[in-house]
Amino acid sequence: MPPPMDRRLFLKSASLAAAGLALSACDRSESPSTAGTKVPSFPKPGEEPADFDFPLVLALPFAHGVASGDPLADRVILWTRITELLPSAAAVAVDWLVASDPTMSQIVKRGRQFASAEHDWTVKVDVTGLQPATSYYYRFEALGAQSIVGRTRTAPATAVEELRLAVLACSSYWSSYWSGLGHLADRNDLDLVVHCGDYIYDFVDEDEGIRARKDKKDTAYVDYRDWLNLAEVRRRYALWRSDPNLLRAHQQHPWFIVWDNHDISTGYGNELPSTVTGDGATTTLDEVCRAFYEWTPSRPVKPDGSGEFILVEDGSYPLASDPKFVYRKLPYGPLLDVFGVDTQINLPDYGREVDASHLASGNSLYGRQQFEWFSGGMLASAQAGVTWRLVNNQTWFAPADIPDVADGIALPKIGLSRWSDYPEERTALCEYLRGDNPASLRVRNNILVSGDAHGNLGSDVIESTALLSAYVPGLPLPNPRAGSTTLNAAAGYARITTGNLGPVNLRGESVAVEFAPSSMGRGGADEIIQNAIGASGPNALTVGGARALELALIAANKNVQFIEWVDHGYGIVSLTAERAIFEYWWQDKLTPGAPDILGQQMVAWAQQDTAQLVPRYQDQIDCVLAHGMAVAATSGSRSAEPAPLTATVLPR
Ligand SMILES: [Fe+2]
Repeated sequence: MPPPMDRRLFLKSASLAAAGLALSACDRSESPSTAGTKVPSFPKPGEEPADFDFPLVLALPFAHGVASGDPLADRVILWTRITELLPSAAAVAVDWLVASDPTMSQIVKRGRQFASAEHDWTVKVDVTGLQPATSYYYRFEALGAQSIVGRTRTAPATAVEELRLAVLACSSYWSSYWSGLGHLADRNDLDLVVHCGDYIYDFVDEDEGIRARKDKKDTAYVDYRDWLNLAEVRRRYALWRSDPNLLRAHQQHPWFIVWDNHDISTGYGNELPSTVTGDGATTTLDEVCRAFYEWTPSRPVKPDGSGEFILVEDGSYPLASDPKFVYRKLPYGPLLDVFGVDTQINLPDYGREVDASHLASGNSLYGRQQFEWFSGGMLASAQAGVTWRLVNNQTWFAPADIPDVADGIALPKIGLSRWSDYPEERTALCEYLRGDNPASLRVRNNILVSGDAHGNLGSDVIESTALLSAYVPGLPLPNPRAGSTTLNAAAGYARITTGNLGPVNLRGESVAVEFAPSSMGRGGADEIIQNAIGASGPNALTVGGARALELALIAANKNVQFIEWVDHGYGIVSLTAERAIFEYWWQDKLTPGAPDILGQQMVAWAQQDTAQLVPRYQDQIDCVLAHGMAVAATSGSRSAEPAPLTATVLPR
């Protein structure tokens, strides 16, 4: 289906459009790469007809920028989209070029693909034959025009000293000005950006309305309400890619994305009242999954549930015959394996048949095939001697619940984890990692990076708080650091001791560490309170209420080592053979261009070392302060020149 726009209005509009189309048609007969310095066929940003109602940010036809993702040691997916005033009747030839330098003077790979309505005019190329652990630059050319240049990086095949990943989740356009995505784009030492789901959102939350396209905060408007069909799902991705910060973050780094509930929601609904009832809504699960693969630089996997990639060698569009599979793995050499899991699509909402025959309860979130793929893959990774396993995990896993009764007083029950409804499978996974597996091997050094919580958490991973009776964690105290606003002083609670008694490991049951760097905007605890008391924005009462919830949560869940539930942003994971450092970076979401604030920093150790003044144990996450270290931002030992942004970026 072509991009949604009103053809009738278009045809009535300016002659500018007609001129553009005429030139476009001529260009199609030529190789765009030999088009030379031809006058651009398209209106400049802001000069397209006023009636052209499709969210975009750069000049046509590459109005949604470029992106890359799912890097392997020898290949990476490159992405762009062709957006025209009036979609072409036939496929459009798009040339792609990969270079070793940001000026694109040293071309190392090139090829051609044809964009068509079938894939919503998106172009996806699995570029092969690349060198491992190498930064590359790329560009697309079509219809006599050039895209902006993107930068990407392949995975290492052999040992590297360090890997640096950014982590984010729950990126709602309407919730935040996304300053954090701009700061991410400005970093030149990242290997990969991991997005844990809720990349797009189906509807506006009641605590949102911070911004809207064209300032149109109207829930009858297509860019401010739930989607009705595939065309509107695709358009939602276009809205997201009309944000300059997101556009630049995709331009500068490869991404690894999994979906969560909002990305693949099929039921029509709005949290805010709308005059659009959803009668006639047609969105299906196949369609939302299809749109995910069209608009994200994700490499599809085989439909047999093996988690194996569909590897395209001939430059054609990588296509999934069943787009409902998303769990997959990126090997990053001997230092790291990156897994991506799906704990969403098997929820009862989707009405899918789930094979839970590996569990007595018959209640599975992974489904048997994925459980076996994931647990077996974690074991194989450890057996192969890979130092770290990092899991892109869309929903919080470890216990993090506030009981509904405390000291006999009834409280509203607040739970973060979808996993509390799947206790048998959570236990089975923990026991597997603890050594109940075919090799009887304890799988160490596991990191879950998690979305969905909308709060900043760092935690040991254990299946049940009942296990923690003999568990002695450190002491929680107010975080000595402040958040991104003056209102958010002493941001959260952090345990400032490890709890271990010298050589006595009192947290040995933990099988992994879990790191959730909040949401890229979607509301946290203070917004829950804001809604409950009818406050118009954050104030001392809403932040104070969030502090009380944080304290209740860290007190009830001894596995939780850090909690902050007000600020929003992204995380950085810095991995070496010795340690994993986790950083919480926050930005005031209500202010465009807000500064990047390091709210807290945590550490996990790759080797046990009881000779240290504060002993180090594996699969335990601690605030760096608990190990006598200062909070100090890490930076990479290597830096790659940024891809230039020569085009005008104009939010429209
Ligand atoms: Fe979310």
